[in-house]
Amino acid sequence: MIRHLLSGADLDAGTATLVLDTAAEMATVAGREVKKLPALRGRTVVNLFYEDSTRTRISFEAAAKRLSADVINFSAKGSSVAKGESLKDTALTLQAMGADAVVVRHPASGAPHRLAEWVDGSVVNAGDGTHEHPTQALLDAYTMRSRLGRLDGLHVAIVGDVLHSRVARSNVLLLSTLGAKVTLVGPPTLIPVDIAAALAPGTDVCYDLDAVLPDVDVVMMLRVQRERMGDSYFPSAREYARRYGLDGPRMRRLPGHALVMHPGPMNRGMEITPEVADSPRSTIVEQVANGVSVRMAVLYLLLGGNNR
Ligand code: CP
Repeated sequence: MIRHLLSGADLDAGTATLVLDTAAEMATVAGREVKKLPALRGRTVVNLFYEDSTRTRISFEAAAKRLSADVINFSAKGSSVAKGESLKDTALTLQAMGADAVVVRHPASGAPHRLAEWVDGSVVNAGDGTHEHPTQALLDAYTMRSRLGRLDGLHVAIVGDVLHSRVARSNVLLLSTLGAKVTLVGPPTLIPVDIAAALAPGTDVCYDLDAVLPDVDVVMMLRVQRERMGDSYFPSAREYARRYGLDGPRMRRLPGHALVMHPGPMNRGMEITPEVADSPRSTIVEQVANGVSVRMAVLYLLLGGNNR
C-alpha cells in the first residue's frame, strides 16, 4: 500500500481495486447496531481544513471514529493560522501531538504534497485548490461500481466547470486507470486546452451536452465554482443552465440504466435542476454515504490496519 494519498495518479489499478473492495467490507459496519471496528485504536487522525467543507470533513471524522482512531479536528478559522502561522509550522505542531495521519484541505494546489515532505505520518489530500480530490474520485468510482457492477468499459461524461474542478481531475485519472472512458463536456472557456490528453490519453472533449447524453452510463455534473471565477466564463447563469444544465427533458434522453452524479454542494437550478437531483437516477445522497466507507478504507490501508 502507498504511504500517502495525494493524487488519483497515486493509485494503480490493483491498489484502487483494493481500496474499493476494502470499502465494500467497511460498508457492512454501517449496517450494524454498533458501527465501530477496533482497527485503528491508539492511532491519531488530524483533519486539517483550511477551506470550507461539509461532506469531506464530516465523513473523514466519521470514518476515523468508526475505526476507533483518536480524531483531532483543526479548522484554520479560529486557529493561530489567523496570526500568520505557516502551513509547515502548523503541520509540525500537529506532528508533535502524535498525528499518524493528516487529512488536509487547502486552497493552494500542491499544499498536501508539501505537507507530505514535512510530517512523518500519512497525508491524505482532501481537496487542494483546483488540483485534486482523490477520495472523492474513489467514492464516485465505488458508487458507480456498486450501482452498475463494473467500471471497465463504462462511459462517463463529466460536465461543467472542469477548469476549476479538482473532482474532475482526480476522476479522469482514476476512472481511466480502472478502464472507464471519460468525456469532458462544457463550454470551451471552462475546459482547459490539452487537459484531456495531459491527464489520460483516450479522454475526449465535447462542447455539446445533448450529443453526449444518449451514449453514457454515467453523467457527473460539476458545481459551477463562482467563487473561483475572477472573470466572466459564460454570458449568464441562465444561458449556462440552458446549454449545460441537466434538467428533466435532458435526463430522459439518457439510457435507462444511466446514473446522475454530483459531488456536492450543488447549485440547484444551475448545473442541475431539483427534478433531476431528487430523481431515482440520482446517486447524490448515496455518494455521501459511500464516502464514509471509502474513507474508512483509505485510513485503514494507509495506517496499516491490515498488517496489525
Ligand atoms: N464533495 C465535496 O468535497 O464536498 P465538501 O466541499 O462539502 O467537502
